[in-house]
Amino acid sequence: MTNRRDLPLERSADLPDHVVENRRHWDATAPQWVANGERNWLREEPEWGIWGIPNSELPLLPDDLSGLRAIELGCGTGYVSAWMRRRGASVYAIDNSEQQLATARRLARLHGLDDIDWVHGNAETVDQPDAGFDFAISEYGAAIWCDPHVWIPEAHRLLRPGGRLVFLGNHPLGMVCTSPTGDAPAGLTLERDYFGLGRLDWTDALDDPGGIEFNMEISSWMRLFRDTGFDVVDYHEIRAPEQAAGTRFWVSADWARRFPAEQAWVVVKR
Ligand SMILES: C[S@@+](CC[C@H](N)C(=O)[O-])C[C@H]1O[C@@H](n2cnc3c(N)ncnc32)[C@H](O)[C@@H]1O
Repeated sequence: MTNRRDLPLERSADLPDHVVENRRHWDATAPQWVANGERNWLREEPEWGIWGIPNSELPLLPDDLSGLRAIELGCGTGYVSAWMRRRGASVYAIDNSEQQLATARRLARLHGLDDIDWVHGNAETVDQPDAGFDFAISEYGAAIWCDPHVWIPEAHRLLRPGGRLVFLGNHPLGMVCTSPTGDAPAGLTLERDYFGLGRLDWTDALDDPGGIEFNMEISSWMRLFRDTGFDVVDYHEIRAPEQAAGTRFWVSADWARRFPAEQAWVVVKR
């Protein structure tokens, strides 16, 4: 197995260190996400997060996005962008990894969606004008890999007043209950402080997830939205369904039925 420390290290004066590390991580691990991307591109009805909750139960994407301009922040293999395009939006999809974008572009060609803009870049600083988008979304993209104090204001800048930002990622409680070495699923021990959660550096972890993530106390998310100029419309603490079994990624279904492993925020620009 290739150790991520053996991979060539790209350094750029323009990019923060977590963006450089996460680019390396995602370029290296992109092949592992191809099959998941292919499955999701085939879906008509979106399914969200670790447990594949249908959009009918967790309504993050409106059925009709006709005439809207949408942006996906950290699009990965691009299936959320495909769902938005099929719902009528024009879509700008940015990702930090060329390898992930290669999958997205290939699947877009395969599915005949040739008018999505696939852009290589950092979702913390997007080369697009102010107020140019009606809808912004991130499923485990900027939502967890970008510094919230940078990407949330950037999403606010990109949206028009009344525009909506939806994002889904790890719940802070899940992160508190996961060993910093990443060698075991979330457990019943508090493994790190809740206050000051901030930057979650997995570069020395034994296995996935790797890279550098971010999370915050729920009160800090709330304060950031208020200070940035977002109103919270909805907040979901996602629970594993009754029929879910086994362990996925960093969490077991048993754990995720008792505690929230994932969160989704829906906020609107004032
Ligand atoms: C788990 S994928 C999520 C995307 C999509 N939902 C999927 O599963 O294919 C995480 C993506 O976030 C991207 N990412 C990480 N940091 C980023 C940044 N600073 N700007 C844009 N994308 C970023 C990674 O390159 C990766 O493709």
